[in-house]
Amino acid sequence: MSENFVSDRFGFSGAEVLSAWREQGVSGSLLSAAEDWRREAEAADAAAEGALPAGRGVPRASYVYEGREVVEAALAALLSGEHLLLVGPKATGKNVLAENLAAVFGRPDWNVSFHIQTDAEALLGADTLAKGAVVFRPGPVVEAAQAGGFLVLDEINMARNEALAVLHSLLDDRRMVDVPGHGRVRLSPAARMIATMNYGYAGTRELNEALASRFVVLRLPPLSEAGVVHLLEKACPELSKAGRGVLGKLFSAMEEKHAQGEISSRAVDLRGLLAAVRLMRRGLSPLRALSMGLVDKCMEEDERGIAEDVLQLFVAKEAKPDEFFA
Ligand SMILES: Nc1ncnc2c1ncn2[C@@H]1O[C@H](COP(=O)(O)OP(=O)(O)OP(=O)(O)O)[C@@H](O)[C@H]1O
Ligand SMILES: [Mg+2]
Repeated sequence: MSENFVSDRFGFSGAEVLSAWREQGVSGSLLSAAEDWRREAEAADAAAEGALPAGRGVPRASYVYEGREVVEAALAALLSGEHLLLVGPKATGKNVLAENLAAVFGRPDWNVSFHIQTDAEALLGADTLAKGAVVFRPGPVVEAAQAGGFLVLDEINMARNEALAVLHSLLDDRRMVDVPGHGRVRLSPAARMIATMNYGYAGTRELNEALASRFVVLRLPPLSEAGVVHLLEKACPELSKAGRGVLGKLFSAMEEKHAQGEISSRAVDLRGLLAAVRLMRRGLSPLRALSMGLVDKCMEEDERGIAEDVLQLFVAKEAKPDEFFA
């Protein structure tokens, strides 16, 4: 593995995610049930040869989701055959959790990023011309439904509600959808939908009641300071204990300023904190890296000034990256 390819540094198999969750204290019976489920689904795949489209594999997780209670709720829901709607502010690990679940349950994953123009064809597929003949090119919903995949419906509330109506019959007890010009598609017993939504981003809407009714809802809380420190320990093992501690305190101080209404949520960005660690690793000064990852996301000057002051409470101007690494 080369240090130059960031993606190589991450990547946990389903078994690795399971053992990290065991360490977090996640219920052993739920973890074993997930392992049994995986074995059964794999046996069913082997019996139905060729069920998986070529080139589709089980994802590796880029991070391990932190949060015992949420993990237990998600495992229980999927083991019960439910589809999950993950709701939470930005960077609360919605996609990380969805990816972890696909890895743990050993299923190939599909992802649809919803936008205002997402329509039935984008989801189900459409006729296209290939070598002069009209052929049906299946969309992600059809592929995942047939292959028993985990389909992430990302930012589902960005789409127009009418466009989502095609999912209704697939997601309720009918477990099928009639695709015009193609025929009936059934939802494989192993298939699960994991939708994500984030209130408050520009352009998001309410999810209509009919669709919401077809999911169980899991609200993802922001990480506590201890949670941030633990995430840093796992995701950035090169940080020193003291370095993790400072970053955890900085992050919760930003959260507090936001809770007091002094700054918006822009500087409370776990994604940005992790990015800053990578920049520091490249030799950027901690102050510069953390400004790029957190403070400079505040677009209003006043707000940025407050976030900058918070940063300087924890990180001196002349601090060197070495002070953060073991
Ligand atoms: N509870 C958590 N466990 C592990 N990682 C987390 C957690 N919360 C946030 N993160 C980190 O935050 C970053 C963003 O995660 P992810 O992309 O899953 O967020 P999201 O909720 O989908 O955000 P958005 O709404 O902006 O799409 C990742 O680096 C992830 O590791
Ligand atoms: Mg996301």
